[in-house]
Amino acid sequence: MAPIITIDGPSGSGKGTIASRLAGILGWRCLDSGALYRLLGYAAGQAGISLDNADELARLALDMRIEFRDGQVLLDGEDVTLAIRSEQAGNAASKVAALPEVRAALLAWQRACAVEPGLVADGRDMGSVVFPGADVKIFLDASAEERAQRRYKQLIEKGLSANLQSLVAEIRERDDRDRNRSVAPLMAPEGALIVDSTALSIDEVLERVLDRVYQ
Ligand code: CDP
Repeated sequence: MAPIITIDGPSGSGKGTIASRLAGILGWRCLDSGALYRLLGYAAGQAGISLDNADELARLALDMRIEFRDGQVLLDGEDVTLAIRSEQAGNAASKVAALPEVRAALLAWQRACAVEPGLVADGRDMGSVVFPGADVKIFLDASAEERAQRRYKQLIEKGLSANLQSLVAEIRERDDRDRNRSVAPLMAPEGALIVDSTALSIDEVLERVLDRVYQ
């Protein structure tokens, strides 16, 4: 079994950045599991499937042809890299992610990403459900205000429109849904190093994570 590092945490905690930096340093593959749920939310919108139709969504999850290539995300050959980053796609993702049928349908695809020389996987349930036997588990957190602020900056930098107040409200709503759902609720997995990044720079977080990796 290839070595695995999991990085879980709430929306905007910086797990994607840390995961890709860490994968770059180690020369390992990176799995952005949130992108899968975003892809499904987006694909459901395109196909006109309601976000609570569990059976149809699970079928769609199994049928989607997904490719992660050089920083691009392709869905059935179409470049959807930017489209799946919208707040709308994020909210749709969090709704479809609450359905057990959907999570089960995406499990095999995620586990197949664990290949040599190693995998860094980020999401909500990487260390608890998808890779419970992971070698290192990290849980990244930060205050809702700080996470909304970071998301605001990201969106503006990408030339997308954003409103800070509604981002705080959406982050809180998404946190609630992710923490209180019956399947794979967001929480720190047992044995995880918990890092609160509210007052830390990316480099400071990375330093703490690398300390644990090389321990
Ligand atoms: O970037 P952000 O943290 O806002 O979201 P993301 O990681 O792209 O994930 C989008 C949504 O997918 C989250 O709000 C979760 O509800 C869901 N998700 C999940 O349930 N399980 C995962 N392993 C990853 C994401």
